[in-house]
Amino acid sequence: MRNPTVLASGILGTNFELMKRVFEEGGAGAVTMKSIGPAERMGHANPSVMEWEHGLINAVGLPTPGFRNMEEEWRELEKRDFPLIASIYGASVEEFALVAKSVALHRPDAIEVNISCPNTKKEGMVFGVNAEDSAAVVKAVKKEIGAIPLIAKLTQQAWNIGQIAIACEKAGADAISAINTVPSMLIDIDARKPVLANKFGGLSGPAVKPIALKCVYQIFEAVKIPILGMGGISTGKDAIEFVMAGATAVGIGSGVHYRGIDVFKKVCDEMEQWMRENRLDNLEEIMGCAHE
Ligand SMILES: Cc1cc2nc3c(=O)[nH]c(=O)nc-3n(C[C@H](O)[C@H](O)[C@H](O)COP(=O)(O)O)c2cc1C
Repeated sequence: MRNPTVLASGILGTNFELMKRVFEEGGAGAVTMKSIGPAERMGHANPSVMEWEHGLINAVGLPTPGFRNMEEEWRELEKRDFPLIASIYGASVEEFALVAKSVALHRPDAIEVNISCPNTKKEGMVFGVNAEDSAAVVKAVKKEIGAIPLIAKLTQQAWNIGQIAIACEKAGADAISAINTVPSMLIDIDARKPVLANKFGGLSGPAVKPIALKCVYQIFEAVKIPILGMGGISTGKDAIEFVMAGATAVGIGSGVHYRGIDVFKKVCDEMEQWMRENRLDNLEEIMGCAHE
């Protein structure tokens, strides 16, 4: 990667042209695709994304064409000149393995495993809240994707996120990303009902930054593999905080909404300026320094 910023999954990662723009115009170091699921899925009804004073709340509901309907997209993506992370999800370990096997054939540079989604075999319990379920997914996916690096994307819903990270590392994950959105809701008091059609959604943006930082900090204490930190990053100073907590690279999603497609360039410029002011040559000098 030419820089440590990554487009987070679900934002502009829906087609080749947009992803190319995020790299070329936006300045991202790598781009993550919208999560690919086992079958075509429409997602939730509108309103599905709302802006609030402190962040975004969304219930897009993991819409996907399904891994079988992406051949055309892959034909373009295979000719890309930017680092590409494919993101996958499933509702069972078997579904994760099925999607992983097909996606791996198209040789993305890494595969991110979105274990923040519900397991239908356990009444919708999110995989990522349980170390055994998280490890089972990572192990099954790793078996299918061979040498392609596997990134396990964790959720703050786990009360012991460090233990989940350890389970993923032991099961073969090459890196950890954290965090996904935070379950939440908003109510429209004039309409006297929830703002989102789906009632509940996932919170992202500035409101989740302190939650995400705490998770990255705990993961850094637990594992040796690199961490892609995300949640509320839209400035260089936000990114520096994540690096100090232990992140090797940073994901940006909602920040695109707040600062435009070139948020990646802006964040990198601001990081460099901060580094100059603090006489740093290399980010590694401060990686995890908040633990000392
Ligand atoms: C509209 C929207 C859609 C998202 N879709 C996905 C998704 O498909 N897969 C996934 O792993 N995360 C998804 N996320 C979560 C983001 O990748 C990221 O983890 C989260 O938003 C925190 O980062 P941020 O505060 O920079 O947005 C989505 C977030 C938003 C706002």
